Amino acid sequence: MNQPGFKKAVPFADLVDNKSVEIEIENMALMLHRRGEKVYATGVYCPHAEVRLDPRNTSGDLIICKAHGYRSNIKTGECLEESDVRLSTFSVMIEDGMVWVKFEKPH
Ligand code: FES
Repeated sequence: MNQPGFKKAVPFADLVDNKSVEIEIENMALMLHRRGEKVYATGVYCPHAEVRLDPRNTSGDLIICKAHGYRSNIKTGECLEESDVRLSTFSVMIEDGMVWVKFEKPH
C-alpha cells in the first residue's frame, strides 16, 4: 500500500458480511462495516449528541443510536433525522486481503 494516509486495519477475512465491528488503529476508535465485498469505515460517535454507537445496532446500511433513535447511513454518513449533521466516514481500500483506512488523527 503506497497511498498516503492509509493505515492498516484488519484482514478482510476477519470481517463478517453484514456485520459491523469497532476497531482501534493508533489509539483511534473506528467502526468497520462489511457489506458484501465492500467495507465502509465510520466514526464511533452519533452525530446527534456524540453518544457512542453500538456496532450491533445496525439495520442494512443504517446504524441506529440507542439514545434518541437517530439513524445514520454507514456509506454516506447521512443522518436521516437531521440533514445538517453527519456521521464521520473514512475512505477504505482493500489490497492483498488487507483493509486499509484513511483518517487523520485528532490532535
Ligand atoms: S445522541 Fe444519538 S440519537 Fe441522540
